[in-house]
Amino acid sequence: MKKLKFNENGKFTILQVADAQDLTFPRTAMLDMLDAAYDKIKPDLILFTGDNILGNHLLDKRFGTKKIGEGKELTEKRMKEALAVILEPPQRKGIPFAMTFGNHDDMNLLTKEEVLALYREYSQFVVSEEEAPVGNYTVPIWSSDGTTKRFNLWLLDTAWHDKAQDRCHTGVTKEEVDWYVARSSELKAENGGQPLPSLLFQHIPFPEVRRLMLECKPSDKGAVRYAKDKAVKLDPAKATGRLCEPGFGYQENNGQFDAIKAQGDVCAAVFSHHHINNYDGVIEGVRVIQSPGASFRCYGNTGRGVRVFELNENAPAAFSTFTLTYFDLCGHSPRKLLRYAVQADTGLF
Ligand SMILES: [Fe+2]
Repeated sequence: MKKLKFNENGKFTILQVADAQDLTFPRTAMLDMLDAAYDKIKPDLILFTGDNILGNHLLDKRFGTKKIGEGKELTEKRMKEALAVILEPPQRKGIPFAMTFGNHDDMNLLTKEEVLALYREYSQFVVSEEEAPVGNYTVPIWSSDGTTKRFNLWLLDTAWHDKAQDRCHTGVTKEEVDWYVARSSELKAENGGQPLPSLLFQHIPFPEVRRLMLECKPSDKGAVRYAKDKAVKLDPAKATGRLCEPGFGYQENNGQFDAIKAQGDVCAAVFSHHHINNYDGVIEGVRVIQSPGASFRCYGNTGRGVRVFELNENAPAAFSTFTLTYFDLCGHSPRKLLRYAVQADTGLF
């Protein structure tokens, strides 16, 4: 595995790309945005945090959802082409990247192992060799002198497709929680008995994010309706940012939040999946961050963008984070506005 280290100046920068979800005929506005982000931020690592491609639409014609064919061989060919759209730019620029699965990634005939084999064809892909449930791994970031692990990234899988029943399940399994606890304890022992500071990335939030929200009237400022007469808004005492869809997280709860709280190593749990939410909050001492989606081939609004994390070797737990939108990165020229309006599924608003 490629050894990631803090730079000589003690910094390490991560660029998170959430919900890129595109196909073999990409929306070039997103690619422009990502290219601008790579050049502006110069990240040490890019994380594609799920729904990296629209796995269930791989065999669609260029326009519409009519299929061009069927079968595993064609699925694999199209998967490879769709992955190349997002993976070739960082590969070309020499930027290491890692990934988690989202619900759309697995919705096709390929197994997760087969999909991961396609990622592994790229030399910049950060590959984990450790024993872990498929789709889960740790990415250590070493001290600038390369002698000790100073930080850790958890990449967890929250979605799998039951191919026999053609049904998508979401959430972290009991097996994954057990693996996280065991591995976290090992890292703590290696770190002289102190929890190793970490960021945890997974596509779908855990259900406890509901605790960041207050029940309110649908007419209240910032309210998001989740049933006919029911709505929630962000609790200002617990979170800042934007809530535009309810996003209560996965349903089956196998104790992931309690495990994180008890282990004490996760400086923040970072989520994707809810494209138009963008918030930062704290639940019972656990920081939780929701990142906006990048895709133009899906619902969204003018918040389409990426998130940056800046880590410091001397104070690894005190990271900083911010988001950049398409307009921050590409500007507001009439050409860029027009391109956004034409290519984004929901237009400019
Ligand atoms: Fe998703």
